[in-house]
Amino acid sequence: MLNINKIRQDFPILLQQVYGKPFVYFDNGATTQKPQCVIDAVSKYYTEGNSNIHRGVHYMSQQATVAFENARETVRKFINAPHAHEIIFTRGTTESINLVASSFGKKYIGKGDEVMISAMEHHSNIVPWQMICEERQAVLKVIPFHKNGELDITAFENLISEKTKIIAITHVSNVLGTINPIKEIIKKAHEHNIPVLVDGAQGIAHSSVDVQDLDCDFYCFSGHKVYAPMGIGVLYGKEKYLNAMPPYQGGGEMIQTVTFEKTTYNELPYKFEAGTPNVGDVLGLEAALQYVENIGIENIAIYENELLDYATTELLKMDGIRIIGTAKHKAAVVSFLIDNIHPYDAGTIIDRFGVAVRTGHHCAQPLMDIFEIPGTIRASFAFYNTKEEIDVLIKAIYKVKEMFN
Ligand SMILES: Cc1ncc(COP(=O)(O)O)c(C=O)c1O
Repeated sequence: MLNINKIRQDFPILLQQVYGKPFVYFDNGATTQKPQCVIDAVSKYYTEGNSNIHRGVHYMSQQATVAFENARETVRKFINAPHAHEIIFTRGTTESINLVASSFGKKYIGKGDEVMISAMEHHSNIVPWQMICEERQAVLKVIPFHKNGELDITAFENLISEKTKIIAITHVSNVLGTINPIKEIIKKAHEHNIPVLVDGAQGIAHSSVDVQDLDCDFYCFSGHKVYAPMGIGVLYGKEKYLNAMPPYQGGGEMIQTVTFEKTTYNELPYKFEAGTPNVGDVLGLEAALQYVENIGIENIAIYENELLDYATTELLKMDGIRIIGTAKHKAAVVSFLIDNIHPYDAGTIIDRFGVAVRTGHHCAQPLMDIFEIPGTIRASFAFYNTKEEIDVLIKAIYKVKEMFN
């Protein structure tokens, strides 16, 4: 059992009021709030330890380098990667996916080859692949999903061909909440020697991730979706691929030797970390992962499931609610529509109750087109949310219905 009241004290932003009402934050799919220990870790670095890393002989630089590399080890442990050098720090999921699409694409994708994604992807896991397909004259294949938001596994199997070079799929849909059977997908893909990239932006905060157990070839996530600062993210990649792939960006850190005639590249992970890294936020990420570990990701998953069940039940007690995404296995995300009211109008009223929900297409326009809707209202929960807060949302929805009907 989690002590939610105690946990809430760790998040200073949650203690605020908006419009004179307690702040209810249900936009965790967009970004999560930060516990004080994360804020402190970043602040401590800039107060006591700021220095550029890896190339300094002085004390401060060496301390910062050790702290930075220790944080890499913390990330490695969190996702159970075999080696710390398989952990590449990026700006976030988007940059991690762009890195793989561009670099893997240059090495492995040629004319007429195929890249497979699913119809429930975030734009971040669509557009980079479209770009590389255009560059390499390859073809993008899309796995459809059933009406309830579960992937069509038969269609997936039928789409696999000898031309498929990589499959890029989301762990958890940011709109539907669907938890995809990625282990099964990876197993099937590997039977055909196809590597799999998992977009873990929504997966990382809601369930334990063990990249060795999954056997995924790449796993991407953003710090800010797992209680860490914005501007820091992770790419895990299997050594065999990272070693074979060309660098993504050129500059300092990623080189071994440079002459005007030829440059040789640094070893992993530095080959993919050109330029001065975001040391402060890496330390914030480390603090966030340790915080999550202390609470226990399994405890988080159980409690968030309770919130999801409660919210779903309460929503369905009302007339005119349409839930988008009713898969059997879901993370704590509920997307819905109220009668024929535009999500933006509904969101504006809900906001006046102090409740932050997200409205719109959630960077998944193709998914909205499939449902033939302009967008949804999305409530996405974290372990610091409560059932009482869900009651405030329900009250706000009654008000929306009253005002627009
Ligand atoms: C499933 C999914 N993938 C990718 C992203 C992109 O993450 P970021 O903007 O942190 O790079 C998001 C963000 O909402 C997401 O939900």
